[in-house]
Amino acid sequence: MLKRIGVIGAGVMGVGVAQALAQTNHDVVLIDIGDDILATAREQIYQNIRLSRLFNPSPDPAPSPEELLSHITFTLDYQLLQDVDFVVENSTEKWPIKKEIYPRLDEVCPSQVVFAANTSCISITRIGSVTNRPDRVLGMHFMNPVPMKPTVEVIRGYHTSEETLDTARQFLAGMNKDCIVVNDSPGFVSNRVLMLTINEAAFLLHEGVSTAEDVDQIFKKCFGHKMGPLETADLIGLDTILYSIEVLHESFGDSKYRPCPLLQKMVDAGLYGRKSGQGFYSY
Ligand SMILES: NC(=O)c1ccc[n+]([C@@H]2O[C@H](COP(=O)([O-])OP(=O)(O)OC[C@H]3O[C@@H](n4cnc5c(N)ncnc54)[C@H](O)[C@@H]3O)[C@@H](O)[C@H]2O)c1
Repeated sequence: MLKRIGVIGAGVMGVGVAQALAQTNHDVVLIDIGDDILATAREQIYQNIRLSRLFNPSPDPAPSPEELLSHITFTLDYQLLQDVDFVVENSTEKWPIKKEIYPRLDEVCPSQVVFAANTSCISITRIGSVTNRPDRVLGMHFMNPVPMKPTVEVIRGYHTSEETLDTARQFLAGMNKDCIVVNDSPGFVSNRVLMLTINEAAFLLHEGVSTAEDVDQIFKKCFGHKMGPLETADLIGLDTILYSIEVLHESFGDSKYRPCPLLQKMVDAGLYGRKSGQGFYSY
């Protein structure tokens, strides 16, 4: 069984992945680059578990937040990955950051361990190319919030083996999740469409065609979507959206992916959406 899991990055996604793993009987080594970030992550996981127990009372007594947190090691130390069975990498969506992390994982993780990149847009083949195990690297694009989303987009890089895909399916089954496998291309299926939609929605606001509320209402009331594109952007993080659209722009060299200046300005101003308390909406 894939029991002990390395989770790199304790931001929006790393916190969700670590929580979902602890709630499905895994032990987690959660790594980030600052003690303050890890302390915030611990508090977020505690509150999320507490709330999920309140909103989903189950007949069986669910483990307490303290009990689940005892299965997560919060650390800055990559050496603790030496006995993990599987790694999910959720660091910042910037190639210069990700490309430094994988050689460090190679150094410390046993050679059979699969690396799953939870990236929004970066090519999985490119990630595989900076490792010594490109056949054991794949994309595992979790949806946010991770504990609540049952299906994951899995991406087959150029060298990803069938055995690696089987290991990934087994790993996701252990988290009670299903997957849809697609071939590698920047943004994959989900974010090639979603990032363009969000960027275009930002342009509508930038050009004064509509308010943020009305953009979102059109998607909800007319199309029946659960959330509009700008609310979704705030949930994902406007910094992550901007970096993702920049990756698509650079990867395809197609001007249709040019980032909306309003999005760039908001990120420069520190408006990251829910995680900073202000984005297209206030929280
Ligand atoms: N936010 C979403 O909805 C979403 C959904 C799917 C996938 N993703 C992808 O998941 C990844 C993480 O996104 P996020 O929203 O959690 O971003 P985030 O900015 O909230 O968190 C990223 C974390 O990575 C940490 N980090 C940076 N360098 C590191 C290093 N060397 N070692 C360990 N940790 C490091 C940062 O300190 C930060 O805490 C990105 O690649 C993103 O594209 C995001």
